[in-house]
Amino acid sequence: MILKSLTLKNFKSYSAETFSFHDRFNLIIGENAQGKTNLLEAIHFLLAFKPFKQLRSEEVMSFGSSECRLKGEIQSQAGFDEINILLDKNHKTLKLNGKVVYRTSNVSGKYNVVTFLPTDIDLVKGSPQGRRRYLDSIICSLEPTHLRDLKLYQRALSQRNAILVKTSSLTLDKIEVWDEQLAEIGSQVISRRIEFINKIKPLLSRMYKQTSGLDQDIEIHYKSSIELNDDLEQSYKHKLSLEFEQDKKRFHTTVGPHRDQISFFIDGKDASIYASQGEAKNLALALKVSEIEMISQILGRTPILLLDDITSELDSNRKKFLFRFLQDFTGQIFITTTSIKEILYKGHIRGFHIKDRIVRQKDIQT
Ligand SMILES: Nc1ncnc2c1ncn2[C@@H]1O[C@H](COP(=O)(O)OP(=O)(O)OP(=O)(O)O)[C@@H](O)[C@H]1O
Ligand SMILES: [Mg+2]
Repeated sequence: MILKSLTLKNFKSYSAETFSFHDRFNLIIGENAQGKTNLLEAIHFLLAFKPFKQLRSEEVMSFGSSECRLKGEIQSQAGFDEINILLDKNHKTLKLNGKVVYRTSNVSGKYNVVTFLPTDIDLVKGSPQGRRRYLDSIICSLEPTHLRDLKLYQRALSQRNAILVKTSSLTLDKIEVWDEQLAEIGSQVISRRIEFINKIKPLLSRMYKQTSGLDQDIEIHYKSSIELNDDLEQSYKHKLSLEFEQDKKRFHTTVGPHRDQISFFIDGKDASIYASQGEAKNLALALKVSEIEMISQILGRTPILLLDDITSELDSNRKKFLFRFLQDFTGQIFITTTSIKEILYKGHIRGFHIKDRIVRQKDIQT
């Protein structure tokens, strides 16, 4: 899958710009605040139909404008696709090959994109919610039904919580219909997460050894609020009924995948608490590389990689590991930097030099 071109109108710092990309390696270079990250955000928006982080539409539109457009051409094994996105204050319209797509969930996962961001270390050191989100987002890109289930689960959970808040003298039989829904969908969500963890574990362990050069033991634990046995749905329902009185007092549902904890362990120690900065960076890098390998293996296609200013975060060994990986990677890469000296890639690259809102394109051999 290759993003051949991108046209932006009023997207953040780009008032009107067209980019024609290289099939392999695209380098976005410029001083601070020139729009390098904005360009990666636009590519992410086009391919994943959402920005990196939760931004409101008005934050994506250029200051003072009332609408923003993105257009991209993507080449894949199935042929050429043209994507058009129109954003205004209240609406987002997505067109795929000229036809309006009414539900983005129908096309999410169609194009795979993996980001490397300076904030990736938060996957190791940050909140359990961040790790749950990250894991779910990879599973969604591999299995679109997971996205549908997460939405259904969230809806059922909100409704159950609303009843817990509103209804005084609530009895278990009045809430049972929601418990059944939560148990049915929630057990699927948990099963998929565990299945994914079991698949990525050996890969992560191997990649961590390569990034760190150390023979440390890496584990991923899934700690569920539900007892994990053969009949997960049944044990889920049972747990909901056991916690019903507690939930009533607390006005919310205290068990389910929204409460489960995903933790990384290095040599038996919880990485979110005990990992050093260096260990956490190794683990985050190993995790990203494993994510790419998993997507390539399972879907049989390489994702597009977006690396934002990542080299400034890495020491020389980790940088060498990353560029060895990128050198062997067969898909398309977009990387931002303030200095070409940071880029250890050898081969043909297309450079986009951005200065004072002017983009200059140049093919280089490194
Ligand atoms: N909605 C918007 N409309 C116009 N300009 C915007 C908008 N949002 C952000 N910008 C501008 O974009 C610039 C930042 O762009 P970006 O984050 O892409 O910089 P960068 O080149 O990645 O810099 P750095 O090297 O510091 O990471 C800022 O000057 C900011 O004011
Ligand atoms: Mg930036």
